[in-house]
Amino acid sequence: MLDLRSNQNKQVTPLNVAIRNRRATQGFKPDEVPEEILNEILESSLLAPSGYNLQPWRFIVVKDADSRKRLRAVAMNQPKVEEAPVVVIACADPNSWKTDIERVIKLGQEAGQIKDDKSADFIRTNANKYLSSIDTKVWATKQTMIAFTHMMLLSETFGLDTAPMEGFFEDQVKKEFQIPDDLIVLALLAIGYAGKPDRPFGGRFDLGDLISLDKFGMPYVAS
Ligand SMILES: Cc1cc2nc3c(=O)[nH]c(=O)nc-3n(C[C@H](O)[C@H](O)[C@H](O)COP(=O)(O)O)c2cc1C
Repeated sequence: MLDLRSNQNKQVTPLNVAIRNRRATQGFKPDEVPEEILNEILESSLLAPSGYNLQPWRFIVVKDADSRKRLRAVAMNQPKVEEAPVVVIACADPNSWKTDIERVIKLGQEAGQIKDDKSADFIRTNANKYLSSIDTKVWATKQTMIAFTHMMLLSETFGLDTAPMEGFFEDQVKKEFQIPDDLIVLALLAIGYAGKPDRPFGGRFDLGDLISLDKFGMPYVAS
């Protein structure tokens, strides 16, 4: 089993420490998340990478007590949804690329990354060709979970605790929070301060079980 302590004597970064110490928090104190920290977490999560820089994620930050209560009711009555001072509803938009490609090209031009019309045209043609040939529900889900993970780990580096959740009824969450039907509600992220001790680490599969070297099934062995 992958052991949390196995890297004990190696150099670690603050992010690595946060990753090793993070646990899915079971209960939260009512203490507020300072506004400037929350803003930094939200803003930095938007710096996540995405295919063609299309950023198909849409987040709803739920802070108001009554709204958290309503969210809990459609999230299998999980108490942490109501306890945590902030719960983010993470959604993916499988169709936003159709209009956002032009916005992204404009962004790139303004930022000086896209320097001429030829480059803009190349991106437009390429993105349209690729995205109209794949299942963009899967594509948007893939991108959004990267931003979601940024949000979760960044919160941990600020000394906050987090709880990712998939235990909710998507149709009810959509109805309750007026989320358009074609969006996908992927996950909830409760952010706050733990109100009870973490559950013990549940373990992870070994490196060689999940990571191959050079070809699939050839177990990776850490040197
Ligand atoms: C996308 C996702 C959805 C999850 N949904 C729930 C949930 O609805 N309720 C819950 O109590 N835990 C949920 N968890 C927490 C997992 O059970 C937990 O991350 C896993 O057991 C590993 O424990 P650890 O995160 O403390 O290491 C979820 C985790 C993830 C990543």
